[in-house]
Amino acid sequence: MKICRTVQELTSITEQLKQENKTIGLVPTMGALHEGHKSLFVRARKENDIFISSVFVNPIQFNNKEDFEKYPRTEEQDIKILEECACDIAFIPTAEDVYGGQTPETFTFGQLEQVMEGVQRPGHFSGVANIVSRLFIWSKADKAYFGEKDYQQIAIIKDMVRQKSFKIEIVPCPIFRDEDGLATSSRNVRLSAEARKIAPKIHQILLESYRQKDFLSISQIKAFVEDEFKHNKNFVLEYFTIVDDKTLQPVSQREENQGIVGCIAVWLDGVRLIDIQRYW
Ligand code: PAJ
Repeated sequence: MKICRTVQELTSITEQLKQENKTIGLVPTMGALHEGHKSLFVRARKENDIFISSVFVNPIQFNNKEDFEKYPRTEEQDIKILEECACDIAFIPTAEDVYGGQTPETFTFGQLEQVMEGVQRPGHFSGVANIVSRLFIWSKADKAYFGEKDYQQIAIIKDMVRQKSFKIEIVPCPIFRDEDGLATSSRNVRLSAEARKIAPKIHQILLESYRQKDFLSISQIKAFVEDEFKHNKNFVLEYFTIVDDKTLQPVSQREENQGIVGCIAVWLDGVRLIDIQRYW
């Protein structure tokens, strides 16, 4: 595995690879790699000649300084995992190299960012779009892989690709869960042992609401989930929003053949956890 630490190193290699007509798959990450990331690596490895992953804790997508500072950084371990996953190129740049004194571009996404994470974390998606658009250009990837845990992020990235007319396929990948149902996340390591035991409740409540979907209206599904969290004092529910799976606009009634997803952000033990449940 080649480790590239500068943009120049990466772009000169990918230039060469494109001349050789190699297909390139990219998995952007912020490191602290876990099984969820690995499930993306497996697909990228299988579907492309060359598999590139980036590890970069992108400062401009954090709207909370403490969250940025506390974000786990485990570079040595990350390199080991990438090697085990047969990664060809690990791109691990510095912020200096990525943004090098330039003012980041401001991206806007209309209605797509006026809900959920876009409301709770102002500037977050513009920060994500900045790094991901740069990674797309530098990696020259044909396909890029993203997890459905960050459901809104995928919609935003697809829109960014449309705005920029990039020729890249965005591949959404299912959520990877620990055996007890908790969606794996880099932030899970910040949970106390006790909180870690309680955390699977998030997925359990969502699954329970899924089982009832044919007997309840959408507003009743929403109320059911909100009530469950209200009764469990360990959790502080930030939002639970049931949306159209493409426009991400909240729905109160389902149209025929409409895809519907519930998205949740909840605090446990000072850690913010997100998850989703598809209903239809
Ligand atoms: P990060 O949180 O490191 O996640 C990298 C990718 O792994 C994202 O596409 C995310 O959705 C996916 N992922 C994380 N946990 C997962 C799980 N349990 N199952 C499946 N996929 C999972 O998302 C980011 O980084 C950043 O915003 C980034 C896109 C790298 C831009 O900085």
